[in-house]
Amino acid sequence: MSDRIDPALPKAELHLHLEGAAPPAFIRGLSKEKSIDISGIFDERGGYAYRDFAQFLKVYEAACTPLQSPEDFRRLTLAVLEDRARDGVVYAETFVSPDFCGGGDVAAWREYLHAIDEAAQEAQRTMGITLRGIVTVIRHFGPEKARATALCAAETQGAFITGFGIAGDENAGHPRDFTWAFDCAREAGLRLTAHAGEWGGAQSVRDALDYLKVERIGHGVQAIDDLALVDRLAEDRIVLEVCPGSNVTLGVYPDFARHPIARLRDREVRVTISTDDPPFFHTTLTQEYEALAGVFGWTEDDFRAMNADAMHGAFCDTATRDRILKTIEGRA
Ligand code: ADE
Ligand code: ZN
Repeated sequence: MSDRIDPALPKAELHLHLEGAAPPAFIRGLSKEKSIDISGIFDERGGYAYRDFAQFLKVYEAACTPLQSPEDFRRLTLAVLEDRARDGVVYAETFVSPDFCGGGDVAAWREYLHAIDEAAQEAQRTMGITLRGIVTVIRHFGPEKARATALCAAETQGAFITGFGIAGDENAGHPRDFTWAFDCAREAGLRLTAHAGEWGGAQSVRDALDYLKVERIGHGVQAIDDLALVDRLAEDRIVLEVCPGSNVTLGVYPDFARHPIARLRDREVRVTISTDDPPFFHTTLTQEYEALAGVFGWTEDDFRAMNADAMHGAFCDTATRDRILKTIEGRA
């Protein structure tokens, strides 16, 4: 079941991986330009092909191999923002990883970042979409790489890079292995989020809060299995970056009806809605809203309220937040 949502409804998206949002045709084109054979990662219809989360991570990394220069990331950022703007997204935050942009070297990272930021500014001018960047550790690359990532983040904290996070295999290592990186980022003035409670259960969410001291959680949905934790999330106003279509496609939950987003919201947790890696999950934010409207009866007013919550948790300055809030609430 799904209900129509006007794609022009202004939307905010807090959880979007830049490489994970790469249109497959873009990656295929780039791989041809560079004569890199990654044909094995595509299915017969040209989409990304994977069986499970472990293989998803491998395909994700393979899809990154033709992304080899700042110019490639400039083009990627524009392609990704064109798709988001067409979907009514007016504000997005994207995960960016020095691991895929110069291998953790600060000087190289600066060049990649400059190209990404340039594309973001062009998109702001031509498409009216605002982008901020969250430097992201890839958890299964280990704590040593995480330190280099944190140093890249701390060096480039500013108008565009406003946050720091961790993604990747949630069962690799423990949050305590990453406290140095998160402390470094916090001291540099970055705001913090962590993928947790997607695969690692409620305890993983507790550990992210206790060890990494984050103010947002990527996914966090498995907190539903621990109601004391759910109460803590609500009381501490922790924002959850929930990606329902991602969870259903990767098999965290069997379908939208059994997804806990509505139960979390009913218990006053601040849930927000994102697409994670939209082409991998054959989704858009409008499609996510339509599926949620169909299953839970949510209306455009519900989505406006969740988008306002997203902006209250957004890693941006007050002027930007107020400007986007006006658009979301129909005052601009
Ligand atoms: N990187 C890209 N998408 C991810 C996800 N859903 N979970 C963890 N790491 C990711
Ligand atoms: Zn994610």
